[in-house]
Amino acid sequence: MYQTVKGTYDFLPDELKNVEDLEDSFRLTLELYGYKEMKTPVFEYTGVFAKENDTSDMVTKEMYTFSPNGKDSLTLRPEGTAGIVRSVVQNKMYAANELPLKLAYIEEMFRHERPQKGRQRQFTQMGIECIGEKSPMIDAEVISLGYNYIKLVGLKNIKVLINTLGDSSSRVAYSKALSEYFAQYKDSLCEDCKKRLEKNPLRILDCKIDRENDFVKNAPKMEDYLTAEAKEYFEKVKSYLDTMEIPYIVDDRLVRGLDYYTDTVFEVVSTHEDAGSQATVFGGGRYDNLVEELGGPSISGIGFAIGLERLMILAKAEDALAPIEDVVDFYIIDMSKSSNYAFKVAETLRKAFYTVELNYYDRSMKSQFKSSERKGAEYVIIIGEDEVNNETVTIKNTKDRSQEVIKFADLLNYMEGK
Ligand code: HAM
Repeated sequence: MYQTVKGTYDFLPDELKNVEDLEDSFRLTLELYGYKEMKTPVFEYTGVFAKENDTSDMVTKEMYTFSPNGKDSLTLRPEGTAGIVRSVVQNKMYAANELPLKLAYIEEMFRHERPQKGRQRQFTQMGIECIGEKSPMIDAEVISLGYNYIKLVGLKNIKVLINTLGDSSSRVAYSKALSEYFAQYKDSLCEDCKKRLEKNPLRILDCKIDRENDFVKNAPKMEDYLTAEAKEYFEKVKSYLDTMEIPYIVDDRLVRGLDYYTDTVFEVVSTHEDAGSQATVFGGGRYDNLVEELGGPSISGIGFAIGLERLMILAKAEDALAPIEDVVDFYIIDMSKSSNYAFKVAETLRKAFYTVELNYYDRSMKSQFKSSERKGAEYVIIIGEDEVNNETVTIKNTKDRSQEVIKFADLLNYMEGK
């Protein structure tokens, strides 16, 4: 018997209903802020995601890369941002539209990670990308969209972490200072961080293994290397968040796992005890260079992505998922010899947009009534030989238990009065 591939999961109907509710609330939030949803292909040329000298785990270790014709290298998308930016550049969306472009996606992503609760190999991201303008107002608005969505879903135990990686020149100066500082501790670094020391020493700060070492805790601080401009930019982002009364914590070791970030970065983390080690509900940040790296003009973007399955785990833990109930408007109990009349009644009701279930087998009235209860029917229609011969229906209101015989031709009018 086949099982799902490790790290992949089915969404059974009730779970999918919960997913759809979460997606509906996300779409509602997008509308409030003027974001439009789009879709990009599930696979792209590998270069869309992988840059030369990339240091992120996602690019160096976790991508599903394949070559169906032995020539092209293709990759199942591990995240949404690069594909959206590729599409913005390919379709020159920046030239034909008012800037900033406000784009959103709800899509499956693929990363070959070690599966555990909240960490899958196929997962869904709900994300936004705001591309074409750089302003601290936009950074604060993007954070507020994500924060307000999480609040709308009903999560209470969360905290917002923010940091700045500075503009390119701040970052170069800080990277240099970190390389010099960490070089003296090279032998104590984990194998991954030894490589990061050469390529991206910032990542040592949030390494799960090394971050507990005192020498990492005492490393030079980004704020001492920020240019005056980068400092002012971050101060403004914070002041807008204050205005919107979004609580946040500045975490100077938040550097994020992907290489493309500059200036503002942020994560929303669950503080609920069930969150376990995968507590980051969503993360994002600004990227000044990605559009240009993918062949577009020198314009900046910012965005985030929410892990939908992680959100589901937390929403369940915090009792924030709407209960799933089976409810239909009608259940048709059919005790007649032929089912043609029952079908006629069902068709008429469905054409008028009532939800209808009907009996398909030769069963007792009692067991058909049981089915109507299990389906949560608001009305039961009973059809016997009399009803067929007289073109009537017996209709029972399951709430007040009242029952009437009415002409089939009057059924829709009768329901309109309800
Ligand atoms: P990320 O931090 O790699 O950022 O992923 C964003 C979110 O996706 C995470 O916070 C988490 O909720 C979810 N996620 C990531 N990996 C997994 C996994 N293996 N299983 C389940 N959930 C997962 C990005 O992907 C960026 N593209 C975000 C962004 C958009 N930055 C700018 N714009």
